[in-house]
Amino acid sequence: MSKKYNIALIPGDGTGPEVVAEGVKALKALPERCGIDFQFRNFDLGGERYLKDGTLLPDDILNELRTMDAIFLGAIGHPDVKPGILETGILLNLRFALDLYINLRPVALFSGVDSPLKDKGPEDIDFVVVRENSEGVYAGGGGFFKKGTPDEIAVQESINTRKGVERCIRYAFEYCRKRNKKKQLTLCAKTNVLVYESDLWFRVFEEVHKDYPDINTNYQHVDALCMWMIKDPEQFDVIVTNNMFGDIITDIGAVIQGGLGIAAGGNINPESIAMFEPIGGSAPKYTGLNKINPIAAILAAEMMLEYLGEKEAAQLILNAVKKVVKDDLQGMGAGKMGYGTKEAGDLAAGYIT
Ligand code: IPM
Ligand code: MN
Repeated sequence: MSKKYNIALIPGDGTGPEVVAEGVKALKALPERCGIDFQFRNFDLGGERYLKDGTLLPDDILNELRTMDAIFLGAIGHPDVKPGILETGILLNLRFALDLYINLRPVALFSGVDSPLKDKGPEDIDFVVVRENSEGVYAGGGGFFKKGTPDEIAVQESINTRKGVERCIRYAFEYCRKRNKKKQLTLCAKTNVLVYESDLWFRVFEEVHKDYPDINTNYQHVDALCMWMIKDPEQFDVIVTNNMFGDIITDIGAVIQGGLGIAAGGNINPESIAMFEPIGGSAPKYTGLNKINPIAAILAAEMMLEYLGEKEAAQLILNAVKKVVKDDLQGMGAGKMGYGTKEAGDLAAGYIT
């Protein structure tokens, strides 16, 4: 008897549908012995829908999403929609409504992939960022005073709850233990300036550490950490940080692992549901051209399997990706693979045996 998973597909905008198709292709290529079966359901969300009827994330769709085992997202973002509307109305709304409080971003340089970092290889770049995904400045607190006048004031608040900080830090310790590599957890904050929020993070970090004596910890200010990610990435194993810093440092992570074509992430509620995505965005310039790199989406599918507890299946996809980037693809950028999107996806799927 195989296990059945209900997977929500949100192909979304731009190149989203093209890469989601390749992620699904990889999942469908999993051999029978894995004992898993997928029931896919498409959800129409994104810029096209918004332009058609003005809706972003209708309640009935949100409620149906809650009943699924996981969500697989392509991309959200449309050149004809003002920046911010789709991001807050769909992506951030999904994170908040489903309380996807962890943003998990693995940063690994695979053999055969070029990193812009001189002299750094796969043995040097292999860490994971655990980004808080439900609070901080993303909570949207603040406002204008005397907007549009010379006396205008703009306040952007950073919300940090004890509960939100603790559950994120605890997840990071657990993850670091399970990952079982260097067993090194780095807290990234800014205690020298953010004397309230970073103080809370620091105190909770020290406190939770007592439950994980097998994990070594250290602390770095975010600015210094940005420098070390480039100069000495081999020191990192797992990094835990707030929403805004996590957003910024994971883009550095993506570029040092070979670019957005190969960077995947998960928005996770460990107790209920999770959403996985290639983090590259909708790439309107490449839409419909069969040029976008599907590897990030295939890795997002792999992360989804990890989350579902399907270790063997995840490993099969990971091995296939490692093989295709090492043996076949010339580059990771759109149009630089030496293959089209579909052909690269076919190659990867072919290695899943
Ligand atoms: C990300 C993205 C989003 C974020 C945007 C699109 C709102 O950059 O997932 O990292 O800032 O979190
Ligand atoms: Mn980002």
